This record gives sequence, structure tokens and C-alpha cells, in this order.
Amino acid sequence: MSNENKKYTEQELNAMSNDELARLGTELDGVTVAYRKERFPVANDPAEKRAARGVMIWLIVGIIAAIAFLGIYIFWPWEFKNLGEEGHLFHTFYTPLLGLTSGISILALGFAVIQYVKKIVPEEISVQRRHDGPSEEVDRRTITALLNDSWQTSTLGRRKALQGLLGGAGILAGLVVVAPLGGMVKNPWKPGELGIMGNGTLWTSGWTLHNEGVKLYLARDTSAIAESHTGEAGTHFVTAGVSRLVRVRPEDIDAGGMETVYPLTEEDVNDGENYDPTRDVYENHMHSIHGPRNSVMLIRLRSEDAEKAVEREGQEDFHYGDYYAYSKICTHIGCPTSLYEAQTNRILCPCHQSQFDALQYGKPIFGPAARALPQLPIDVDEEGYLIAKGNFIEALGPAFWERKS
Ligand code: FES
Repeated sequence: MSNENKKYTEQELNAMSNDELARLGTELDGVTVAYRKERFPVANDPAEKRAARGVMIWLIVGIIAAIAFLGIYIFWPWEFKNLGEEGHLFHTFYTPLLGLTSGISILALGFAVIQYVKKIVPEEISVQRRHDGPSEEVDRRTITALLNDSWQTSTLGRRKALQGLLGGAGILAGLVVVAPLGGMVKNPWKPGELGIMGNGTLWTSGWTLHNEGVKLYLARDTSAIAESHTGEAGTHFVTAGVSRLVRVRPEDIDAGGMETVYPLTEEDVNDGENYDPTRDVYENHMHSIHGPRNSVMLIRLRSEDAEKAVEREGQEDFHYGDYYAYSKICTHIGCPTSLYEAQTNRILCPCHQSQFDALQYGKPIFGPAARALPQLPIDVDEEGYLIAKGNFIEALGPAFWERKS
């Protein structure tokens, strides 16, 4: 007889045992248990112990790997060490070890759960008819009973050691995922010391040093790399005399050309008549190149196009003749707007296809970007090198709450 349409009173439900409620639940849900078989019908079966041991081994592996991960994350020397510096080898192992231990801990937990389900939980094939609408009280009660039943038949309730290991491995695997987020907790608005990469806040860059009276050249990246050198102390890399950034003169760029430039302070210049093969400015140059808001597109318009250029109010003297310098950081979400199309004088961002007009102060004319590319005021010094005449007058990159322009 089907119980599908029968309404159960509170008293009737209370009078039923867990088994009866579980059976009723399957019936009401239109579930038919087509096949069910205990894995270990005989008590104290040695195969059962072997299966449980297999699961426990995986859980223990997971726990050890998770503890190793947390230990490495907290105590391993993580700070960057250059090639040849003491501790370089230790530093290079930091990230791989984090990946290895976190991977093992999560994988081991996964293997343990799979083994448990495949080797210990009873085999069962059930078929259910689909029905619509919200569940009734009787359904809610019976599903609880079914879950209780699953807990009992899974035998997890009486396996205290396995319970503890499973809980421990689950918590530690969760920590493996959550703990690294701790490294990101910092105040993004707290200014640090102003340097060639800005002061850590979004509205500064290396070009902000101009406000402190520092002369800044527009310098291009030579891509020069450290040289391997063999001496009495063995083979090592030397960066002395390697100029990654060199100053740019107007004649270095053809009409219709574009060059990416970075800020170079006067004291870090090591090129031209100032070149000294024993000076080591490599690291400072790399900091400028890696400054997140430092890169600037220096564009030389063709003269006939430059005549048509429209200046933005307040920025009329930001260009030097046909030379215009725009921030390379897209005002949409910060990709490098690396493509300059000389025929149309359009600057293109490859990320989401925003286009900016180089003839109209970097104004967006297509795509999702809503702000013009900030323009750097430039000039040429007495030696004929391009320099920054001032800092950017607005924040660089995409929108953020505190941005005023
Ligand atoms: S970041 Fe440039 S268009 Fe989206």
C-alpha cells in the first residue's frame, strides 16, 4: 500500500523509530532501493580493519602535509634573495614546497573520502521519481531520519579514531586554503616611503618623485641582462656596467613611432658620456621597470597629424612638439595599452579592446574604458634628453573610490 497521500500527525511521527521513519522517507520520496549490500556483514572481519587502516593512512598523510604547509608558510625564509646572495637556494624552494604540501594535503583528504565511500559505506543503488514544489513537514522529518540512517550505516559513528582523523584532516585542509589569505591582509592606503615604485598607494608612481625635486629622465629598456663571469671565486653573474635603462633623445624615435619609457633618476644614469663600467645601477633600473604605474608610452606624432592635435584644458603645454607621453596603464582595469596604430593615431588596449585617441589627449573613443589616459608633462633638458616636466596631475590606472578625476 502506498503512503504517498497519507497525512501524518505529530504523534504518529513521534511514535516511529528511526528505521521506520527512514523507510517511510524513501517511500514518500518515491525512492526505490533496488540493491543494497553491507560491505562487511560479519563482525570483526579482518578485511574491514584493512579498509579502515587504508583510509586512516590517507588521513594521516593529509594531516602531516597540512601541518608541513602551515610550518613552511609561517617559518620558511620567504623574502626574495638575488642570485648569489646568501639564502637564495632556500628562497627558491619556498613556493614549490607550498604547492607540494598543499596539493598533497587536499589530495590525501580526497583519496581518504573516496576510499571510505568505496570500501566501507554499504553498496546501494536507489531510484527516485522526480517531484516538484517545496517539501512538507513529513518530508523534512524523514530526510533527517535518512541522514541519521546514513550516519549509522556508514559506521562512522562508532569509528572514533577515523572520526577524529577525518575532522582533523578536514580542518587542516581548510586552513591550507584559508591561511595564505592572511598574507594579503594589509592597509592599501598606508603610504610607505616614496621611491622609484611610488609609495605603495594607488595615486603615486615613480614619476611622483618629481614632486620631491628629483630630475627624472624618460628612459627606455635595453633588456640588457647580467653577464656570467668566471673569476677566482668561481662563476657568478655580475651586473656592474649593465644599463637596463638608457635616456632617450627626441631623435631616437621616428615620426609615427612609439617607445615605452620609465622614470630614471639622475643618480642612476649610466649611459652616454656618463657611462662607467664599474657602476652597478641594474637593481635600481629593474625597480623602475617593475613599478606598477611607471610605464609610459612616448609617442611621436607625424607632423601633419600633430597639427590637428586637440589639447585638454590645463594640459596645453604637456607635450614637447610632436611628442606626447601617456600612461600605459589602461583606465579600464589596468592592462598595458601597448598598441599604437600610427595610421589612425589610436592607442589600443588588447585586454578588452578599449581605444584611445592620441590626437585628443588620450580620450577613450571605443570600448569599456571611461577615462582618458593620464598625460605626463615632458620637456627636453639642456643636453637634449627627454625629461618629465612634472608629475601626472591625476591618478593612474583604473577607477577606485578615492580617485577624484
Ligand atoms: S583593461 Fe584595457 S580595455 Fe580593459
